[in-house]
Amino acid sequence: MKRDPMELTTARLLIRDWQPESDAAAAIAIYGNPAVTQWIGDKSLDTTVAAVQARLKRYCDRAKDFPGLGCWAVLDQETVVGTVLLMPLPNEENAPSGKIEIGWHLRLESWGQGYATEAAQAVMTYGFDTLQLDQIYAVTLLDNDRSVKVTQRLGMMELGISHDYYGGHELRLFCRPATTEPAR
Ligand SMILES: CC(C)(COP(=O)(O)OP(=O)(O)OC[C@H]1O[C@@H](n2cnc3c(N)ncnc32)[C@H](O)[C@@H]1OP(=O)(O)O)[C@@H](O)C(=O)NCCC(=O)NCCS
Repeated sequence: MKRDPMELTTARLLIRDWQPESDAAAAIAIYGNPAVTQWIGDKSLDTTVAAVQARLKRYCDRAKDFPGLGCWAVLDQETVVGTVLLMPLPNEENAPSGKIEIGWHLRLESWGQGYATEAAQAVMTYGFDTLQLDQIYAVTLLDNDRSVKVTQRLGMMELGISHDYYGGHELRLFCRPATTEPAR
């Protein structure tokens, strides 16, 4: 399926498609650090260019049959600081559940600056206004306090612990319907 290029801007950030060739070193800076990967499904720490390119391809492929969804690089000026994604949320069999999830991964050096919330807010607005989504979900490991705080800043409601997603893992589930305002 041919896809339109992604480009969203915020006060500080650019959200665009990953460029697996030229962004490989930046992706390694994110996914080569266990401080980041301990919180996400794919914990592999292979920092070869081929491995990180394969990781980006796996992420992007999850959205390939879903127009408008994707996995994108987040840049501050010219620097890739992380990933933001809007994807089919996989169910207990790792097939699309019918729900759409938002997610965020930042390189460790870029934590604590509001980038994840800023990028996710822009992608949520895109999801609601452009894609006309009714709800956007997020899942986190039970003790991923930083990610939970992002969901709170985005005005997402916690729906409790669930085993219905990502192959049955125990996860906290969050949701924001299209109509609610973000928390202040
Ligand atoms: C989850 C993750 C993206 C959260 O990163 P984060 O930096 O804590 O979240 P944000 O980018 O929204 O930044 C918020 C922090 O920046 C601070 N901040 C500093 N300057 C700011 C600014 N100009 N604007 C807004 N916030 C700012 C906020 O006060 C807040 O700090 P606090 O958490 O101490 O209150 C990051 O920890 C990460 O990549 N973890 C590994 C991957 C992961 O867990 N992904 C999610 C899987 S469910």
